Amino acid sequence: MTQATSGTAFSRLLGQWRLGAAPAYRELADVVRLLILDGRLPLDTPLPSERTLALTLGVSRTTVTGAYNELRQDGFLSAGQGTRARSCIPSRAGVPDPLAPRQDYAPGLRVPEDVVDFAYAALPANGEAVHRAYTAALSELPALLPGFGYDSYGLPELREAIAARFTAEGLPTTMDQVMVTAGAQQAMVLALATFAQPGRKVVLEHPSYPHAFDAVTARGCTPVPLAFPRAGGWDPEAFEATLARHRPAMAYLIPDFQNPTGLLMPEGQRRRMARAAAAAGTVLIADETLRALDFDAAAPAHLGSFSPSVITIGSLSKTHWGGLRIGWARSSADNIRRMTQTRTSLDLGGPVAEQLAGRYIVQHDLAGLPERLVELKEQRDALASMLRQHLPEWHFHTPGGGLSLWCTLPRGSEGTSALSSSALTILAAQRGVRVAAGPRFGVGGAFDGHLRLPFTQPVDRLERGILALKDAQAQLLATPGLRSRLPAPPAVAIA
Ligand SMILES: Cc1ncc(COP(=O)(O)O)c(C=O)c1O
Repeated sequence: MTQATSGTAFSRLLGQWRLGAAPAYRELADVVRLLILDGRLPLDTPLPSERTLALTLGVSRTTVTGAYNELRQDGFLSAGQGTRARSCIPSRAGVPDPLAPRQDYAPGLRVPEDVVDFAYAALPANGEAVHRAYTAALSELPALLPGFGYDSYGLPELREAIAARFTAEGLPTTMDQVMVTAGAQQAMVLALATFAQPGRKVVLEHPSYPHAFDAVTARGCTPVPLAFPRAGGWDPEAFEATLARHRPAMAYLIPDFQNPTGLLMPEGQRRRMARAAAAAGTVLIADETLRALDFDAAAPAHLGSFSPSVITIGSLSKTHWGGLRIGWARSSADNIRRMTQTRTSLDLGGPVAEQLAGRYIVQHDLAGLPERLVELKEQRDALASMLRQHLPEWHFHTPGGGLSLWCTLPRGSEGTSALSSSALTILAAQRGVRVAAGPRFGVGGAFDGHLRLPFTQPVDRLERGILALKDAQAQLLATPGLRSRLPAPPAVAIA
């Protein structure tokens, strides 16, 4: 808890708060809100009592009461009956909602209470950590304002912090081997635009992250699917054969808690696949977006440690918040230089304040992660046991990290899939559950017998979602011909 502020110190902090442009209580509340938001009034600081502040400021008690009430209502003061009110930031529920009429228009920004969202495999922000990071960023920003604000490599301090993290994790890295990007997605797009000419082939795991398929086809390249032959992971022999047969410009792999399967690539397979790609002259992207979500500290060495030309991409989206849009690419200094040259046709650099916040998080707040992992692991276990209870014929592997379960739906007697995940998706939407159909994770309509279920929401919501899916499944099985009468699944936004 932060030390209490005396009436006099608080009044000094407020400065010239009374402008006479609005009622006094509102002007007072506005200034206190600003002090909290820009970090000059630290979170959890006890404020002077209403009586003390009224006396110090020479205003009526009603003015202070009105200001405190407004701040409390907006979520900037903790309620505290009989105790001193403390500064805080609003929880989601308390946030004023200027975009309220468009709620369902941007589900990734604001999930309505009555919707269970299984389409995003992402977590809400750790509000306090993100707030702390922005507070630190705002205090460092003035030093950078005399500059022009552009750099296609990114903020040197953040690149240094990312490089130091790789080095500490056993992959020696210098800052000229790192560029900052708008999330891992931009890093992937930049790598494709730099190293894969349109018309060339790109190998991807099958299933894989939907927006990776999107990026490959948008570049005019052809995705070459690499199947997972067994629960133990990847098949290096099949990978080598694919490289020899298709001569792909690129291969894109997610070795750590693969999206959507949750599989973790064993060290021997990493070594062999990295070396095979290097020998074939295929540029290998290792997407490490989910690497830090490792419940049992089981992730082997970075794939990039087995070949210097691997392009390792990652971000703070899954550990801290997608809204930061802070990601990175790490490779040889020459690869990174070429990617920064490509970048200038797309944008001229990342937002400076976000990069400062990102630097703070990389340096100070990854320590807060274990608590999030405990919670996430509990949610994984809760989802797994709900599935066993309510949908016992669904099969899945329980991953040691990441964000989702990849479920195999029950098959019919002739080996055909009895349950279509596309059909389930439509019926689930009618029950307030957004979920991405299996074929979004592959090419050529594959995986209609699969469904990805993220365990990123509180247990009560997970349960609502599972019960709705159970209900949808019952309707599908009880209504012959229903599947063929349903429209195409909704094109839900996913992550
Ligand atoms: C495997 C994988 N790669 C990349 C991304 C993109 O993340 P971002 O651009 O937010 O870093 C995601 C997000 O879901 C993902 O799951």
